Parts: sequence; C-alpha cells; structure tokens
Amino acid sequence: MVTTLLLWMLPVATFAEDEEAPVFENAEYNHQCFKCHGQKTYRYYNESMDREMKDRMNPYFIIDSALYYQSNHASFMCTDCHSPEYETFPHAGELRMEQQFACLDCHGGDETYAHYQFERIEEEFQASIHSTKHNEDFTCWMCHNPHTYKINARNNHNIKEVIVYDNNICLSCHADINKYQLLSDEENPSILAAHEWLPNQTLHFSKVRCIECHTEIDKEMLIAHKVCSKEKAVKRCVECHSQNSLLTATLYKFETFEKRNKLGFFNAAILTDHYIIGANRNYYLNVASIVIFGLTLLVIIIHAILRIISK
Ligand code: HEC
Ligand code: HEC
Ligand code: HEC
Ligand code: HEC
Ligand code: HEC
Ligand code: HEC
Ligand code: HEC
Repeated sequence: MVTTLLLWMLPVATFAEDEEAPVFENAEYNHQCFKCHGQKTYRYYNESMDREMKDRMNPYFIIDSALYYQSNHASFMCTDCHSPEYETFPHAGELRMEQQFACLDCHGGDETYAHYQFERIEEEFQASIHSTKHNEDFTCWMCHNPHTYKINARNNHNIKEVIVYDNNICLSCHADINKYQLLSDEENPSILAAHEWLPNQTLHFSKVRCIECHTEIDKEMLIAHKVCSKEKAVKRCVECHSQNSLLTATLYKFETFEKRNKLGFFNAAILTDHYIIGANRNYYLNVASIVIFGLTLLVIIIHAILRIISK
C-alpha cells in the first residue's frame, strides 16, 4: 500500500533534477544557512568544550537547495522571511515563536499578481473543510512548502507532471501520518481504502488530480481552492466519462481553450493525452457525417425521380 503511494510520489524528484539550477545573487548569503540546513549533519564550534562538534540535523529542518533554487521564491534570502537573528548559532530560543508571513502579506492587492487572484483563493480557502475545521493552524504554507513551492498547472505543459506535483501536495499529509497529526489527533484515513469504489485506482490517480473530485469548481479560477467534505466529492463516473467532462473545466482548462479550434475537436486536449471513454467527439466528423447522410438522401430522391420520369 505504502509503496503504491510512494510510486506516485517518485516522478517529482526526477523531473526536478533534470533542470539545471541557475545561480542566484542570494546564493552566497544563503550558503551560510544551507551549510547546516542543506545536509543531514552539521558542524559547529562548541565554546564550552573548545572544539568543533558534529551533530545530526533534524530531518524536518533539511531543505533541498536544488528545489529551493527552482521554486517561485528562489531569489529570496532566507532572512527575507526569517529573522536575521538566525545568522547566529545556537539560534535564540524565542525565535521559534517568530511570526510567519502569510501569502497575502506580500501578494495581497498587488497588480503584478492580480491574475493569480490571491484574494479569491484566500476566500475559497477560508471556506474549505481544512480551514473551517482547523482554522488558524491550517495555513497556505501547509500545501505550499515555503522552500520548494513552484507553480505548475499554469505553465507546465506536461499534464502528467502537473498531476503528480499537485497530488503530492495532498499526499504530503494524506499519505503521511506525521504531517497529518500536526493538525489532527485522529487516525489518518487510508486513501486507498477510501477510494475502493473507483476501478483501476492507480491509473485514475495518475490521470486525474485529487482536486478534480474534491473541490468546488469555479469557472474563473485555474485552481479551485475550496476543498469540500467527502460527502460532496465527485463519485459519478459520467461527470468525467461524458462529452461535457468536468475535466475540461479543471485539469484541461487552459489547453482546451487553446487547442479546441485548432484541431476541431471538442475536448482536444483530452484527446491528445488520453482517450477517455465517452469524453471525446470531433466537430468536423459530426458535420461530415450529417453532410454524407444528406447527400445519400439526395441521391436516393434524385434516383427515384429519374426512375419515375423514365417510366
Ligand atoms: C551551525 C548550523 C546552523 C546554521 C549556520 C543555521 N542553522 Fe538554523 N538551525 C540549526 C539547528 C541545529 C536547528 C534546530 C535546533 C534549533 O532550533 O536551534 C535550526 C533551526 C532553525 C529554524 C527552525 C526553528 C524552529 O524551531 O522552528 C529556522 C527557521 C532556522 N534554523 C533558520 C536558519 C537560517 C535562516 C539560517 C541562516 C541565516 C540558519 N538557520 C543557519 C542549525 C543551523
Ligand atoms: C518565502 C518565505 C521563506 C523563505 C524564503 C524561507 N523560509 Fe524557511 N520557512 C518559512 C515559513 C513560512 C516556515 C514555517 C512553515 C510552516 O510552519 O509550515 C519556514 C520554516 C523553516 C524551517 C523550520 C522547518 C519547517 O519546515 O517548519 C527552517 C529550518 C527554515 N524555514 C529554514 C529556511 C532557510 C535555511 C531558508 C533559506 C534557504 C528559508 N527557510 C527560506 C518561510 C520561508
Ligand atoms: C515575503 C513576501 C512573500 C511571501 C510571504 C510570499 N510571496 Fe510569493 N512572491 C514574492 C515575490 C517578491 C515574488 C517574485 C519573486 C521573483 O520574481 O523573483 C513572488 C513570487 C510568487 C509566485 C510567482 C509569480 C510569478 O508570476 O512568477 C507565486 C505563484 C507566489 N509567489 C505564490 C506565493 C504563495 C502561494 C505564497 C504563500 C504560500 C507566497 N507566494 C508568499 C513575495 C512573497
Ligand atoms: C489544500 C492544499 C492547498 C492549500 C491550503 C492552498 N493551496 Fe494554493 N494550490 C494548491 C494546489 C494543489 C495548487 C496547484 C499547484 C500548481 O500546479 O501550480 C495551488 C495553486 C495555487 C496558486 C497558483 C494558481 C494559479 O493560477 O497558477 C496560488 C497563487 C495559490 N495556490 C495560492 C494559495 C493561497 C494564497 C493559499 C492560502 C490562502 C493557498 N494557495 C492554500 C493547494 C493548496
Ligand atoms: C497539512 C495537511 C493536509 C494537506 C496538505 C491536505 N489535507 Fe486534506 N485533510 C487534512 C486533515 C487533518 C483533515 C481532517 C479534517 C478533520 O476532519 O479534522 C483533512 C480532510 C480532508 C478531506 C475531508 C474528509 C472528510 O472527512 O470529509 C478531504 C476531502 C481532503 N482533506 C482532501 C484534500 C485534498 C484534495 C488536498 C490537496 C489539495 C488535501 N486534502 C491536502 C490534512 C491535509
Ligand atoms: C474520482 C474522484 C476522486 C479522486 C480522483 C480522489 N477522490 Fe478522494 N474521495 C472521492 C469520493 C467520492 C470520496 C468519498 C468516498 C465515500 O464516502 O465512500 C472520497 C474520499 C476521500 C477522503 C475521505 C476519507 C475518509 O474516509 O474520511 C479523503 C481524505 C480523500 N478522498 C482524499 C483524496 C486525495 C488525497 C486524493 C488524491 C490522491 C483523492 N482523494 C482523489 C473521490 C475522489
Ligand atoms: C475525475 C474524473 C473521473 C471520474 C470521476 C472517473 N473517471 Fe474513469 N478515467 C478518468 C480518466 C482521466 C481516465 C484515463 C483515460 C486514459 O488515459 O486512458 C479514466 C480511465 C478509466 C478506465 C480505464 C480505461 C482504460 O483505458 O483502461 C475505466 C475502466 C474507468 N475510467 C472507469 C470509471 C468508472 C467505472 C468510474 C466511476 C466509478 C470512473 N471511471 C470515474 C477520469 C475519471
């Protein structure tokens, strides 16, 4: 069970390594933090013992520098978000109470980011099951890892990668009891058991995202953020396996608009990547079949008239 979940998670690491990390101006500064926070062990000078010591880094405090420099906030110095007092080690105890920025502290009301609709996302998030049940404990950072988050759906044309990336966000809790229990004392429900009704689960989870079935779709948003309770989740097969598949309003949102007219296919984006039973239909083929049918009828009528006249 665990291995299946891990298998879905694997591709992210591989595709991230393909790209070469550009060098940022902040790299030199950040290096002082990565020296410790980029590895499993770190060294420091122990004054009372007057010698250098080596210790293990808390695994949750290790940051992958390659992923950091591919993230949206790659150009940041660590201390753009954290207190500059972290430059000293041991870090002062009260720093763990440090207040974190929220996304909207920086992105709210800024024209540059208007197309992301941060305010609407915030509203949808506030209405989500996560937020209503865990209010302030559940922050945007829980899904958007502050050190690795990178936009995908908007600019990655490889749908498979987008699916893996987005699903891993959900699975980072729903397949990891340690993170889940930061919020809940309940047992983490098994994802595989909860979706037993879905045939060929592994295939489905590699072709659709959790958010397709679990959010309230909003036509104007690329990524709907209102995750609803399980009672409201999509369970009917025809919601996807039909001509007006909900996937065109979610997963294939951008691509459908771009490709529809070029290829003449309804749901062209779906067709190029998959053949989803019931969801694909070609506009020109439909027109052509009507024309052929009409022509056949015409030939029969002319033929009949000619026979009547010749008699
Ligand atoms: C000499 C090694 C070392 C260096 C250099 C270092 N840290 Fe740390 N850092 C640690 C260790 C060990 C911990 C965990 C123990 C603690 O909190 O003191 C930690 C904890 C943290 C925490 C988590 C605190 C918490 O409890 O939530 C943050 C944030 C942090 N460091 C940021 C930084 C930043 C930013 C820099 C660079 C400006 C930096 N660190 C440099 C070793 C280091
Ligand atoms: C865009 C803002 C931002 C930047 C840049 C940033 N951090 Fe963080 N960091 C955060 C936030 C927010 C948290 C708290 C995450 C949470 O509570 O889920 C955090 C948490 C941490 C922690 C505690 C472990 C954890 O995940 O809770 C460490 C250690 C840390 N940061 C180190 C660093 C280092 C080192 C850098 C630079 C390489 C850095 N941070 C850059 C926002 C940032
Ligand atoms: C401390 C301020 C700050 C915080 C907090 C912050 N951001 Fe950013 N963010 C920025 C800045 C500045 C940039 C532009 C970085 C650049 O271009 O190098 C950026 C870039 C981005 C981008 C890419 C924009 C683009 O068009 O390239 C996205 C998406 C984004 N942030 C999302 C978020 C999310 C989601 C959160 C919260 C989880 C968040 N940010 C928190 C300041 C912040
Ligand atoms: C339950 C998980 C979850 C939470 C909580 C969450 N997000 Fe997201 N968010 C996602 C996923 C999944 C994506 C899609 C990532 C991708 O492929 O680009 C996303 C994408 C985004 C994007 C990019 C949208 C676009 O049009 O490209 C922004 C901006 C964003 N989130 C902001 C926020 C803000 C602000 C909050 C808090 C108010 C928040 N998110 C909370 C899961 C979450
Ligand atoms: C930070 C951890 C975390 C992340 C990330 C996360 N969840 Fe959750 N989720 C929870 C917790 C905790 C609950 C249980 C809420 C409760 O009932 O207390 C929950 C509940 C749910 C439920 C409701 C189940 C019910 O009982 O009705 C659904 C559906 C859900 N999550 C889907 C998602 C989706 C989809 C994503 C990704 C977009 C996601 N979650 C990301 C922690 C997380
Ligand atoms: C094809 C639609 C679909 C997809 C894709 C999907 N779910 Fe679900 N999910 C459902 C439905 C429907 C239920 C309710 C099942 C029931 O009540 O019998 C559910 C139940 C859940 C629950 C509640 C479990 C419980 O017993 O409390 C969680 C949490 C959850 N899903 C998370 C996820 C995550 C995470 C993903 C992505 C890896 C995902 N779902 C993908 C439709 C879907
Ligand atoms: C959220 C959308 C969604 C829902 C809901 C959904 N499916 Fe699917 N289904 C897909 C996608 C996408 C594929 C992958 C098509 C491909 O690439 O071959 C697929 C594939 C399949 C396949 C495999 C076809 C093959 O080529 O092997 C079967 C069978 C199937 N679905 C049956 C069902 C049944 C039965 C239900 C309802 C219980 C259901 N699906 C619900 C989206 C969905």
